[in-house]
Amino acid sequence: MAVQRGLESARPAQTRLFYDALAERFVSPAWRVALWGARFVVVRRAIEAIYDLVGGPGPRASAIARTKLIDDLIGEVAPSIDQLVILGAGYDTRAHRLDCLSDRAVYEVDHPNTQADKRAVLARAELSAATAPRYVAVDFERDDLTAALIASGYQPAQRSMFLWEGVTQYLSLEAVDKTLSAIHHAGRQDDTLVFTYVDDAVVSGEHDRFPEAARWMHGTANRDEPWISGLSPAGLHDYLRTHGFCLVSDLSTRQAGERYFTPPQRPDQGSDLYHVATATIS
Ligand SMILES: C[S@@+](CC[C@H](N)C(=O)[O-])C[C@H]1O[C@@H](n2cnc3c(N)ncnc32)[C@H](O)[C@@H]1O
Repeated sequence: MAVQRGLESARPAQTRLFYDALAERFVSPAWRVALWGARFVVVRRAIEAIYDLVGGPGPRASAIARTKLIDDLIGEVAPSIDQLVILGAGYDTRAHRLDCLSDRAVYEVDHPNTQADKRAVLARAELSAATAPRYVAVDFERDDLTAALIASGYQPAQRSMFLWEGVTQYLSLEAVDKTLSAIHHAGRQDDTLVFTYVDDAVVSGEHDRFPEAARWMHGTANRDEPWISGLSPAGLHDYLRTHGFCLVSDLSTRQAGERYFTPPQRPDQGSDLYHVATATIS
């Protein structure tokens, strides 16, 4: 994700969908050199073409479209919330880069290993203390999310938004269920949850509808991060209702991409296998 956001941030202001100045700090030295070169249009086009040829097409454009869509969803909800909880935050830098969060409490929940890496990188970035999130180390497979949030200062009586981006496919379905229950328990009625998921047809090996799936899944498995869980778009409404949520919207990153890539006349396309859903606690 940091490479993909770094590549997007190397684009000129007229065509990029967002700017993440911190993304390049999380990538390897070789990628940092590549991202520096990507400021030159010919180099960037070559890197994007090779990246899409090897890993996609799909992952890069999907990541960019989902980042922009979620930035916009946060911008819409931020005026009416006191706190944002980012679950599986990884190298998400929204606490630092989105102005609409500057006076909101942000809780970043993540696996202890990822979170330790992130904190070590950001410690060298000398960021303003005012935008620092509160870090909560949690393993969704094992730990009690609600208890960990409350122990870190999360206020159950205040209005919250929960973001769970790029995580559900790496968890067991039991951990997905458990985490949804914990969000329901921690939040208030009408609080918003934005989360991403992959179509369960892909995870169960039915790739026919998604020509991009095989290379994409091969790439994640090669990085030792296989996709093990998906959800059914057709069953999402009922699935969420059984967990106490009301589905508000469900867009694939191809649909989000049509919205965002068309005005700057970019040929990028998201994917129908990757979804961004919004729900409220009922
Ligand atoms: C692909 S990254 C997505 C990060 C970020 N949300 C984004 O979209 O850029 C997946 C994230 O899920 C987290 N994760 C995976 N399994 C986890 C678990 N069992 N408990 C807590 N976090 C987990 C990883 O630590 C990582 O931060």
